[in-house]
Amino acid sequence: MAEEFIKFWAELANRYDSAIDNIMGDKIRPKIREKLNKEDNLKNLIELGCGTGYFTKTLAKKSESIISTDISEEMLSIAREKLKGFEFQVMDCQDCKFDNGIFDTVFMGLVLLFTEPEKALKESYRILKPGGLLIIADPDISFLSSYGNLKFRFKALVNYRRIPNTGHFLNQGKIVNMLDKIGFEVISKEIIRDDSDPNYVTVNYIKATARK
Ligand SMILES: C[S@@+](CC[C@H](N)C(=O)[O-])C[C@H]1O[C@@H](n2cnc3c(N)ncnc32)[C@H](O)[C@@H]1O
Repeated sequence: MAEEFIKFWAELANRYDSAIDNIMGDKIRPKIREKLNKEDNLKNLIELGCGTGYFTKTLAKKSESIISTDISEEMLSIAREKLKGFEFQVMDCQDCKFDNGIFDTVFMGLVLLFTEPEKALKESYRILKPGGLLIIADPDISFLSSYGNLKFRFKALVNYRRIPNTGHFLNQGKIVNMLDKIGFEVISKEIIRDDSDPNYVTVNYIKATARK
């Protein structure tokens, strides 16, 4: 993983929660959390790219055990500060330090777009048990008008101060095709949106099981 990319998240860590709400709207992560709150029986779960731990507590309520991981030690130190007694580990989700087939659930919240997606999804597949569940929440800019797209990029530049050059967006079709090719069966795909502003990005909420 490029040093420059890790440095980007390290520098952003203290401002991340306000930056992401400014960019995507402050209702979108609560809406994703509401969706997670409706999940059940997530058993032995790993969270990839957990950042400052926004979804960690909710995921913990829905699972028997949870390990939350992120590439950035700085993001994790904020998560550790907020959430005592949770297990956080520094890890690249494209190269997980776990054996094959040990997790019942993998959750990736707002992280796939910052990875080489095929690599990250293959790695999720590898660490899932047969029939294990992958839940992805990933931003999608394909619904934005040209004005919305410009506004989004401007907000990202102002709040992130610079854009990590590895960041790229996938629409729902691309994610679904990739999942299918890797060996997942997509069981549901939804779009989460903040209706208060048409210029906010939408989020694909996709669930897939590992066909093994
Ligand atoms: C947009 S933030 C999302 C954080 C959190 N899931 C949330 O929704 O608030 C993206 C996170 O992914 C992490 N990240 C980026 N690339 C990663 C990788 N290859 N492996 C693990 N984490 C990664 C970043 O450090 C950052 O914390």
